[in-house]
Amino acid sequence: MSAKKLFIQTLGCAMNVRDSEHIIAELTQKEDYSLTEDIKEADLILINTCSVREKPVHKLFSEVGGFEKVKKKGAKIGVCGCTASHLGEEIFRRAPYVDFVLGARNISKITQAVKTPKFVGVDLDYDESEFAFSDFRNSPYKSYINISIGCDKHCTYCIVPHTRGDEISIPFELIYNEAKKAVEKGAKEIFLLGQNVNNYGKRFRNAHKKMDFSDLLNALSEIENLRRIRFTSPHPLHMDDKFLQTFSQNEKICKSMHMPLQSGSSEILRAMKRGYSKEWYLDRALKLRELCENVSISTDIIVAFPGESEGDFEDTLDVLEKVRFEQIFSFKYSKRPLTKAATMPNQIPEEIASKRLTILQNRHAEILDEITKKQENQIFEVLFEELRANNAVAGRTDNNFLVQIQGSEEMLGAMKQVKITNAKRMVLYGEIV
Ligand code: SAH
Ligand code: SF4
Ligand code: F3S
Repeated sequence: MSAKKLFIQTLGCAMNVRDSEHIIAELTQKEDYSLTEDIKEADLILINTCSVREKPVHKLFSEVGGFEKVKKKGAKIGVCGCTASHLGEEIFRRAPYVDFVLGARNISKITQAVKTPKFVGVDLDYDESEFAFSDFRNSPYKSYINISIGCDKHCTYCIVPHTRGDEISIPFELIYNEAKKAVEKGAKEIFLLGQNVNNYGKRFRNAHKKMDFSDLLNALSEIENLRRIRFTSPHPLHMDDKFLQTFSQNEKICKSMHMPLQSGSSEILRAMKRGYSKEWYLDRALKLRELCENVSISTDIIVAFPGESEGDFEDTLDVLEKVRFEQIFSFKYSKRPLTKAATMPNQIPEEIASKRLTILQNRHAEILDEITKKQENQIFEVLFEELRANNAVAGRTDNNFLVQIQGSEEMLGAMKQVKITNAKRMVLYGEIV
């Protein structure tokens, strides 16, 4: 029985989910903590924060204010992650009851942070690419694995390079051993993480054999009993022919590609410093559809970037029509500190941003309805991972559709052929064949 209890809340992207797993691993294996879901009994309350848009930053301060009210006497509060990185000590000024601040690139210092009053670890040059974290995973079937840290791209709207620092690839041996260990423990799927995964191998901390992302994918796919490989996020700029071929031909790579578009206008893409044009993006996406018949393509889109005209927005809608994404994550541009776009002229009024977002989302909903209908009577292999209400289990197809069937706990971790009997926009309902 552990003496101390840890409560952790995770905001943001998959990289934060993995960082939280690392934090839990370090604190439960090197220190005397065990996890709790009851914040009132926690000795340590952590929030792993996201800074990518303004909203989650407000959420941080309302959340820690809430923690302070319900926490038991003597319990500590730590703020980790991306907002910790760029606000640093400012967090103590706005919330004096916070005990330590640990930035996204300093997660390996967690055991030191919990023992040092008012610890601040926000060094953006800190290189933990070769740190071997203790092992903890939320899911036994699906394992997140970091393959790089940081991002050098400095897209003009994005705060991430200021929260996670420069891009450094994690050595192949560490990734391979982690993947192999996860599979030996029962993982069927590995999910590779980085801000620009297909830029893997550009820079290592120490001398390393030459290796790009396609080589990494092929090498990992050799692991026996590993069934599926997923990854996020690849960058459209680095989608060369070798990568698209590897993706299409390697059977263990799930046929679901995230291709963050951001904008369909070449002019806006230039102002965003994305490094590709509308034509390059369309060429890559349509080539991918040609090479890989059953691929699903998802994307991220920002509307109302500074200076976005009606014509620029039409270009975004045009790409939507041509690529017919299976899934979109769409956002109104949000002004972030430390970024170039924050000081650009022609910031777009809120009403126009909202209008454009609604138009985009409504049009995508129509496309998605057509895509969804086509899935009826199709047969997919599904990895079941989640229990649902009313005796149901859910999982994902290779191309990332969510499928639900009647079933119980024994189904978790199983891979089965499922025929879709009733296709809805968010869930495909089916039965095992
Ligand atoms: N490395 C990934 C993105 C990580 S951030 C990539 O390049 O695709 C996830 C998404 O948040 C981005 O793709 C972008 O669509 C969105 N985003 C980032 N900064 C934003 C901002 N300032 N306003 C609105 N959305 C933003
Ligand atoms: Fe942000 Fe651009 Fe880096 Fe993605 S590639 S994390 S959007 S700076
Ligand atoms: Fe992820 Fe948010 Fe940081 S999206 S990289 S947790 S700013």
